[in-house]
Amino acid sequence: MARSRIDRRDFVRTIAVAGGSLAVAGLVPACTGDASHDHALMTEPTLARGGGGAVTRNPLRTPPAVAPSGLTLRAAPGTASIIPGKSTTTWMYNGQFPGPTIVAESGGEYPGVTFQNGLTQDSIIHWHGLLVDSPNDGHPRQVVPPGGTYGYTLRVAQRAALNWYHPHPHMMTGEQVYRGLAGAFIVRDGVDTGLAGNAFGLPVGEYEVPLIIRDASFDSRGNFQFSNKSSGFWGNMPLVNGTVGPYLDVQKGVYRFRMLNGCNARVLRLALNNGGAFTLIGNDGGLLDQVYGVSEIVAAPGERFDVLLDFQGLSAGATVMLRDLDAKWDVLEFRVIDSTPSGSLPSGSLSTIAALSNPVTNRRFTFDGMTRINGKVYDINAIEFQVPFDTTERWTFVTNGNGPHPVHVHGAAFQVEARRGGRGRTFEWERGWKDTVLVHDGETVDVLIRFTAHRGLYIMHCHQLAHEDAGMMANFEVV
Ligand code: C2O
Ligand code: CU
Ligand code: CU
Repeated sequence: MARSRIDRRDFVRTIAVAGGSLAVAGLVPACTGDASHDHALMTEPTLARGGGGAVTRNPLRTPPAVAPSGLTLRAAPGTASIIPGKSTTTWMYNGQFPGPTIVAESGGEYPGVTFQNGLTQDSIIHWHGLLVDSPNDGHPRQVVPPGGTYGYTLRVAQRAALNWYHPHPHMMTGEQVYRGLAGAFIVRDGVDTGLAGNAFGLPVGEYEVPLIIRDASFDSRGNFQFSNKSSGFWGNMPLVNGTVGPYLDVQKGVYRFRMLNGCNARVLRLALNNGGAFTLIGNDGGLLDQVYGVSEIVAAPGERFDVLLDFQGLSAGATVMLRDLDAKWDVLEFRVIDSTPSGSLPSGSLSTIAALSNPVTNRRFTFDGMTRINGKVYDINAIEFQVPFDTTERWTFVTNGNGPHPVHVHGAAFQVEARRGGRGRTFEWERGWKDTVLVHDGETVDVLIRFTAHRGLYIMHCHQLAHEDAGMMANFEVV
């Protein structure tokens, strides 16, 4: 297939308005993942080298969108067609790999959300990024046994953002997430409505696509290979929304991609093969202060990135590849189809982010080896520290071997203030509100944090899931 180059001016060009359908549940329906696609892709050297023109790719799946009210999420084993012609034993929510995309409204109260544990081990769902009260946060103490259920009421009172949900049982999160238990959780609000006519003309409907990017390894029969060694599991190929070697047909318009690094351990360095820039508009905590053009994004497990891509300047048949520069992987191919150019990129300011300042307390957390925070392996029954409600603090995350450590905090969003050592700076995608920040080995990262949502029991931990499972986690209480 012919390739063409986009230059930066095309990405920055501003033209008319996009169409596209709409609605809270306006995300594209799932591909059924039929087994009719060619097997050539699975010759791993081709995939690893990437870029070859002869590779047969598979249409990107998009999980179905669901509303949270009265939603039952049942985790259970099943089979999914991931590798063409093979079936893979997976653990799934509601038989979907990945799980359905939940779409909620800020200000909404959603009772009757039920987790059913159809696994043969304990589990619980945590809503990563949702600032919910402690009984609804999915703390590891709240696990339910096989056959058990847990009822949630989700009161969503935060900015629009891409969040996600996944299991959080102590010592078993890595395997459960790896085998397929994860899904996107989109929050809308009055600005970022997900509807046509929204404040910044952000793409909606089929032009807004969640991308859950993760790695995996399969044996020759198509089943997952996995080991939970604490150095972390690194798969040997990327999946996007559970699709191996995906492509997406794109109109000559502006698209919004809601990207999540859903890997157990791998840090991705995302870029476009043509040198084009991402128009970065948001991250873990929603819209940034303004639009940024970035040519690569370093994405750690648990982090989210909201980017726009403008395909208007390309001709039909052109392709653009989303790549991981570190693994040298082709992650997702965009194929431009013959259509009339439409849409526009926002420019300038997007939101006002009130800066946290004047911390009254400094706390220091060292992430030691692969199992400890401040020298301690996780004790599920302990409360390691107490944080006063509605008070700004500076938390300093220090690495001390075996990074990278993506540090995640439940119960509040934070602002990344500074990074010393290592990369020595903060990045555009770390502006605004975050709940997960990458601390590479040799780095020290300061964040400002203020718990304004709820008092109660929460946790902080490394989101390298093998580190988390091995004990790199700490309970605290907001009082
Ligand atoms: Cu994504 Cu404590 O988790
Ligand atoms: Cu979380
Ligand atoms: Cu870690």
